[in-house]
Amino acid sequence: MNRSICCIGAGYIGGPTMAVIADHNHDRKVIVVDINKERIAAWNSGKMPIFEPGLDEVVKRRRGKNLFFSTDIDAAIKECDIIFVGVNTPTKDFGRGAGCASNLQYWEATARNIVKVANGNKIVVEKSTLPVRTAEAMERILSQHPKYRFEVLSNPEFLAEGTAISDLEKPDRVLIGGHPTPAGKAAIKALADIYGTWVPKEKILTTNLWSAELSKLAANAMLAQRVSSINSLSALCEEAGADVEEVARAIGMDSRIGPKFLKTGPGFGGSCFKKDIMNLVYICESYGLKEVAEYWRQVVVINDYQQQRMVGGIIKAMFNTLANKKVAVFGFAFKANTSDTRESPAIAITRMLAEEHAQIVITDPKALGHVNDDLEEIAAKVATTPDPYKAAKDADAIILLTDWAEYKDLDYQRLYAGMRKPAFVFDGRNLLDHAALRAIGFEVKAMGKTWEN
Ligand code: UDX
Ligand code: UDX
Repeated sequence: MNRSICCIGAGYIGGPTMAVIADHNHDRKVIVVDINKERIAAWNSGKMPIFEPGLDEVVKRRRGKNLFFSTDIDAAIKECDIIFVGVNTPTKDFGRGAGCASNLQYWEATARNIVKVANGNKIVVEKSTLPVRTAEAMERILSQHPKYRFEVLSNPEFLAEGTAISDLEKPDRVLIGGHPTPAGKAAIKALADIYGTWVPKEKILTTNLWSAELSKLAANAMLAQRVSSINSLSALCEEAGADVEEVARAIGMDSRIGPKFLKTGPGFGGSCFKKDIMNLVYICESYGLKEVAEYWRQVVVINDYQQQRMVGGIIKAMFNTLANKKVAVFGFAFKANTSDTRESPAIAITRMLAEEHAQIVITDPKALGHVNDDLEEIAAKVATTPDPYKAAKDADAIILLTDWAEYKDLDYQRLYAGMRKPAFVFDGRNLLDHAALRAIGFEVKAMGKTWEN
């Protein structure tokens, strides 16, 4: 078997994953291809198209040696026996299933192209998150080839943005789904061998295809569900005088529950959680599982509610009007350590603030480049600056939405001095030292806590 592998789709998943594979498999050629010329040019330049700690180093180490970025998709398909597909699968925004179902048009076009240009048998690896039983549809397309055989595997990626490289280096598990046939088993082994160069054998989990496909959706749905669970409790904490962080610590110490993903905030964002849950909802509905669909839909309902609740709290605290008040939004990325703003809670929250006629200044260390596109319809009403001190100058309130560590280390005395009084801090992430802020003179309201906590 030829030892070259390729990945179609040089995005958040394809780029980092292939770079790490190349780094651990010097004897394999790894080619990452994409239809987007600018993206490929960026991967080949000094400035990566995505910001991810540690990514530069890995790419620079292997690029031009055994890691290549190219727009020649057909040549890569011909050259490689193992083809990863990591093209995007956004939520459909048209037709049947709009708002819920995955748009599989790029996936299908990619599969058809593989059939068209293939020059031998291939293993096709689903890397994109896909609805359960997508592999079946893909197999039907791929099996149209008169001569060659295509074995489909599902190998979902669990990396989180901001920690992509460390997640890839030390995964909790690598999941490979395939058919229990001899050809299926051989394909699973070929893929497991690639990961086996750095991932301990016991962490490489093999399952049937449908389990692997569903596990990816289920993992994201359950992670998002934990965030919605703690966020729903944050509302109750504020009413009942409890402190959500104390509650989270107390329940997280139960080893059956565990401490992770219990941090309250302005709601989850990111390209995956909402998309995957809505997709799960759609699949359940299409199998007639109405109650199951409703159960998961509620995770998204609570997420939207949390954002509305936060803005409601801000309006109430600021004497029931934001009109012409200047508010400084600290953080636009959907979480710290990423420039990504897809589904960022800051988008919905800023829109709601604009509806109240607030004057908005957004600051963020990495994500300001997305503000104009994400807030296109209100862009004229929103200013941006990378400097938090400038953002807060003459402002009535700081609204902290992203958990960037640097926001902890700002000189709040200086920020306070430049603001209108009373000066408010709304800490959507429970990131700051609230007692210290109050000692300076700020009025502080934090998520899941009363005004005193
Ligand atoms: C990934 C997965 O593919 C998606 O299913 C998952 O839910 C989220 O993560 P991601 O890598 O974040 O997507 O997507 P993106 O950064 O948009 O990258 C996809 C790439 O595929 C883009 O660079 C796009 O240009 C490319 N593409 C798309 C192709 O090369 N060919 C196509 O036909 C369509
Ligand atoms: C997620 C999954 O973690 C990853 O396994 C999958 O492959 C892709 O989707 P990602 O979207 O990059 O990764 O970010 P993640 O760290 O999971 O955070 C998602 C959102 O939840 C962020 O907006 C984050 O701020 C929020 N969150 C997370 C909380 O509000 N509280 C928490 O305790 C954890």
